[in-house]
Amino acid sequence: MSGNDYHAPVLLHEAADALNIRPDGIYVDCTFGGGGHAREILKRLGPNGKLVAFDQDEDARANVPDDNRILFVQHNFRHLQRILRLHKISEVDGILADLGVSSHQFNEADRGFSIRFEGDLDMRMDTRQELTAFNVINTWTEQQLHKMFEQYGEVTNAKTLARTIAQARNITSLKTIANFKQAIASVVKGNPNKYFAQVFQALRIAVNDELGALKEMLQQTPAVLKPGGRIAIITFHSLEDRIVKIFFRKGNFEEEDNTDLFGTTPAPPLKVITKKPVIPANEEIKRNPRSRSAKLRVAEKL
Ligand SMILES: C[S@@+](CC[C@H](N)C(=O)[O-])C[C@H]1O[C@@H](n2cnc3c(N)ncnc32)[C@H](O)[C@@H]1O
Repeated sequence: MSGNDYHAPVLLHEAADALNIRPDGIYVDCTFGGGGHAREILKRLGPNGKLVAFDQDEDARANVPDDNRILFVQHNFRHLQRILRLHKISEVDGILADLGVSSHQFNEADRGFSIRFEGDLDMRMDTRQELTAFNVINTWTEQQLHKMFEQYGEVTNAKTLARTIAQARNITSLKTIANFKQAIASVVKGNPNKYFAQVFQALRIAVNDELGALKEMLQQTPAVLKPGGRIAIITFHSLEDRIVKIFFRKGNFEEEDNTDLFGTTPAPPLKVITKKPVIPANEEIKRNPRSRSAKLRVAEKL
């Protein structure tokens, strides 16, 4: 399988342009996937440039090009600084993250990400991890489930959904996607595909602690980037986009403006480059409908 069959890169040139690549610089691709963005970065690097590529999914490794400028690390990007240090890298010139799951992960029935297939309730990007969607559905309390579906899926009847799951799992095992869909069929509201998509999005975010990993990675970027170094993040839903937008503006995750003891606002470590997010052109959305919700935000280390 070639990288593009694995995953078609979104906002490819926009993201690579945003990094202002220096041919001899060191760059990080936090989300290697099919390697589309990574190959574009490599094209713009000279023989002394370097690219560290993270992906927590073992499957991504097969897409790594035979190129001695790239170092693939099968780790969660929440360990960004630690893994760079391990490889004797203290600062980098640019960081890219293209968040979420790859088309490959969606299209493999046995990974359990897609409502289109039958399979186990899994949804782990990193199959070495213990927590699966099965564990979440079968062991989290009704209240935890309620909060998760409300916050991560914006499911309108999250409370009813959580109660239905808590009751169903006492009677029958919710092991597979089909078992689960059947157990919650009576509370589906509106368009079933849209409803299940929201429920699955919430589960996926919870299983992979996607927002926690994003926040941890962002917090390390001011220390990891060289002055003038760029960070470019592509998000696919408003929960992620809000986190990135606030962090780029303020250097923290607080919705409210925070002042110190003297009533002044601490200077943020990054400068926002994209006042408004970059979104795909109509032509890209036509070619790759999955790109329609993408937003690219860019900031620069001061
Ligand atoms: C949208 S795809 C990236 C596609 C890639 N830019 C390309 O051009 O093919 C996201 C990838 O990031 C990985 N990923 C998501 N969150 C991660 C995390 N916290 N740590 C490491 N890898 C992660 C997923 O396993 C997936 O392969």
